[in-house]
Amino acid sequence: MVPRWVGRCPECQTWGSIGEQAARKPAALRLASGPVTAPARPIGDVDVEAARAHSTGVGELDRVLGGGLVPGAVLLLAGEPGVGKSTLLLEVANRYAAGQPRRALIVSGEESAAQVRLRAERMGTLDRGLYLAAETDLSALIGHVEQIDPGLLIVDSVQTMAAADVEGSPGGVSQVRSVAASLIALAKSRGMATVLVGHVTKDGAVAGPRLLEHLVDVVLYFDGDRHSTLRLVRATKNRFGAADEVGCFELHDDGIRGLADPSGLFLSDRSRPVAGTCVAVTVEGRRPLLAEVQALVARTNLAMPRRAVSGLDSARVAMILAVLERRGGLRLSTDDVFTATVGGMRVVEPAADLAVTLAVASAACDRPLPPGLVALGEVGLAGEVRPVGGMARRLGEASRLGFTHALVPPGISQPQREIRTREVTNLAQVLTDLGLTRTAAP
Ligand SMILES: Nc1ncnc2c1ncn2[C@@H]1O[C@H](COP(=O)(O)OP(=O)(O)OP(=O)(O)O)[C@@H](O)[C@H]1O
Ligand SMILES: [Mg+2]
Repeated sequence: MVPRWVGRCPECQTWGSIGEQAARKPAALRLASGPVTAPARPIGDVDVEAARAHSTGVGELDRVLGGGLVPGAVLLLAGEPGVGKSTLLLEVANRYAAGQPRRALIVSGEESAAQVRLRAERMGTLDRGLYLAAETDLSALIGHVEQIDPGLLIVDSVQTMAAADVEGSPGGVSQVRSVAASLIALAKSRGMATVLVGHVTKDGAVAGPRLLEHLVDVVLYFDGDRHSTLRLVRATKNRFGAADEVGCFELHDDGIRGLADPSGLFLSDRSRPVAGTCVAVTVEGRRPLLAEVQALVARTNLAMPRRAVSGLDSARVAMILAVLERRGGLRLSTDDVFTATVGGMRVVEPAADLAVTLAVASAACDRPLPPGLVALGEVGLAGEVRPVGGMARRLGEASRLGFTHALVPPGISQPQREIRTREVTNLAQVLTDLGLTRTAAP
């Protein structure tokens, strides 16, 4: 709250989101008791059945939610325009309608019912228990809910709904707040799971007040690269389960499919080893994913050699190139260096440092790494290889996908049976061991 006119919100830094509200008189101190909605009970007598999760029918989403949808729970699904929010939720609503005794209702404020039906036809999802309505008025929405009595309500999107008795335009702070509060009260009173779609602003926050994230039970972010079909759903808040799971999906013309085993997507398959590639194991939430890092090193006549990075953190790659040059004795100042990941994957974890380093060194020496090898570890400025977390999980995933050898940081406590590990302490040593040295410096 601010006591005067301001153009920009001092908390979330958005412009034009502050509305005027008349000051209310503070209420007099009350000590008289009021009626209670339900008597307080000993904790052992509280019925837990009402809070049991029901599967959504979409396995990857259940995984993120920690089992499924809890009756009365309110979810916020946020994502950039066109990422596939409506597609995912149509799939969820259809599976719910098909698998649960209660109906599912989609209220769309952005598309007409006919448009939603066209999409449903494309996806082949037309269950009799799935109802559609195109509406932007909150009281009409509540009317639909009362008529249909759904077990799952999807509101696409919360920013397009407006309450007639609240001032401000749809999507504004006061509208979003009151629409969300009404829908939450409705969900809790009817035991109806509710999913609110939220748009995100350019910098990735949910548009509208941050408050929305506090009000709802679960906040899911849906993201993915425009040029790849991979979509990830992450929970940033979950009142019913862990918030560090990731769900993987593949978006196609004919709908969205869960990817129970996404690791293979980020590896290029080839029979012969090629110089300049190395495989790392990253961890998304709690889920290990294999990622291939590729590098290309080419002689240049430019005074400022090019350093292009795709899918990796450019500051980290710059650091790794400097470490390679100073600690690994590999001169790169007369070469262009390009680094990338496969399949549009984003790898920003320090655990991938060693793989990036080896990919660049292998490209520079034009010498492929041994087949079946993964490299794990953070590389420090002194050229030392440092430990990373989740080692057992990473190695387990690598061996599951057929990798036989792993270069690991020192200090692995439990020996791994299924994959042969070799501890590496510093960069110079691992480069010499793998024969990645340029003997005749150009
Ligand atoms: N008729 C179509 N044929 C093939 N692909 C389509 C068709 N219509 C939409 N798509 C693709 O499906 C993807 C997902 O669209 P969807 O409407 O689910 O996204 P959204 O996140 O709901 O977007 P918005 O924020 O605009 O509501 C889009 O990237 C689009 O390219
Ligand atoms: Mg949409």
